[in-house]
Amino acid sequence: MTTTLTQGMIQEAADYIRSKSNVTPKLGLILGSGLGVLAEHIDDAVSIAYQDIPYFPQSTVEGHAGEMLIGTVQGTSVVLMKGRFHMYEGYGPELTAFPVRVMKALGVSKLLVTNAAGGINTSYEPGDLMLISDHINMTGRNPLAGPNDPELGPRFPDMSEAYSRKLREIAKQVAYEKDIPLQEGVYVGLLGPSYETPAEIRMFRTLGADAVGMSTVSEVIVARHAGIEVLGISCISNMAAGILDQPLSHEEVIETTDRVREKFLNLVLGIIPKL
Ligand code: HPA
Repeated sequence: MTTTLTQGMIQEAADYIRSKSNVTPKLGLILGSGLGVLAEHIDDAVSIAYQDIPYFPQSTVEGHAGEMLIGTVQGTSVVLMKGRFHMYEGYGPELTAFPVRVMKALGVSKLLVTNAAGGINTSYEPGDLMLISDHINMTGRNPLAGPNDPELGPRFPDMSEAYSRKLREIAKQVAYEKDIPLQEGVYVGLLGPSYETPAEIRMFRTLGADAVGMSTVSEVIVARHAGIEVLGISCISNMAAGILDQPLSHEEVIETTDRVREKFLNLVLGIIPKL
């Protein structure tokens, strides 16, 4: 299914959100499985259910609540997505990234994406936080396929610094000052929803991936198309398939993200005012 999302649809969604909040957000935040805790730290938050926003799909996954929050975090105006849309839910890549288009229309110039990911790099441990240095899009899909609207961005957007070096330096500095260990590596994004096989994980390791997940890449492609600077942080929620002698489960993902909640929050709250 390919949905062509037009500027009119983007504007309609943005107008609806603007009718609920006077804040002009400069930073967008997309929080992954179990990482929604930041939502509790927004001042004067206005909450908008996804179901009320024109053209927004529903979030169907356990651990992903569906609401958008607008307010300020430590004085920075933000729009936050608590829960995101995944292609494995059956949505096309352009729909999973639609909120990024809407954020851009609202005024966002920087985006912080977070996710839970399986650790492929064997020096990682569940509970580690990883700054995303780059990604490999293995979903087989691209949200920009189809007609290009030049007012939204170029036909062939550059992806050579998909995850801003400058923003990564800021994140590293904050992590250092707060004494929070931070890995840095490459995220491979897959369609899902089945977890990978051990053979697939060995292949991705050979290809240079450090962590694997089922989100983020479409959002980041659209963000770059729209000229938004991106910072990405993965929570290594489990070791990827075949590394440990145990099966993978969504429960483990949620348990680990719960466990790192304070560390994650501390890091992100330190980064936001510096972006
Ligand atoms: N694989 C894919 N996606 C994931 C994983 C994983 O091991 N952990 C959390 N999201």
